[in-house]
Amino acid sequence: LAAYLVEKEGGAPAHVLDVGAGRGGDSIWLARQGSDVTALDFVPGGSRAVQALAEDEGLTLVSRRLNFNEVRSWLVEGARMARTPGPRAVLARHVADAITPRARQGLWRFSEMVLRDGGRLYLEFLCATPEQPAVETEDQMMPLDLETVVADLRARGADIVEAGQRLEDPPLPLSATKVPRPVGRVVAQWGGTA
Ligand SMILES: C[S@@+](CC[C@H](N)C(=O)[O-])C[C@H]1O[C@@H](n2cnc3c(N)ncnc32)[C@H](O)[C@@H]1O
Repeated sequence: LAAYLVEKEGGAPAHVLDVGAGRGGDSIWLARQGSDVTALDFVPGGSRAVQALAEDEGLTLVSRRLNFNEVRSWLVEGARMARTPGPRAVLARHVADAITPRARQGLWRFSEMVLRDGGRLYLEFLCATPEQPAVETEDQMMPLDLETVVADLRARGADIVEAGQRLEDPPLPLSATKVPRPVGRVVAQWGGTA
């Protein structure tokens, strides 16, 4: 998804917010492409190693705590980011499907706040299909209905640039079978691009 973001934006954006960054694999890759990266997660220690790596390489990668379960947490971070000038993009890979429905509303509102003046949201999540019903997976993810995600984003004022489905290999060693899983990919923006 990070590579897709860079391709679609015509190069590495000045600033990328990697929300639910996990261990920061996408964050360090994006920093190496030339973006300043803010890695946000409710476990900020997860991306500490890549933050140190980025520092060694003279790249800008900052890890900060953000919890979509706490309104104050994402509101404060959203306000801070909204005030930071310059073009940006938000990457949210497998976080919408890792959080509660209430926290997901926080993710949509946070994205709206930080992208209101331009830039796009790049989102991927396990997609609910007849073969992959909306029940928790072995890696504690919740497949989401693509149309519902699109409707939720539209309800928050987003324009949907694209919305589709693809197949993705599950992370090993979680699944010995390694059957590809349907993943929803949505690109959204609020009132134009940066
Ligand atoms: C499945 S991992 C995806 C990590 C990374 N984006 C990737 O694609 O490898 C989900 C991430 O969401 C984070 N997360 C879960 N609940 C969260 C919440 N309420 N607020 C912020 N981050 C959360 C987890 O800590 C984890 O790093």
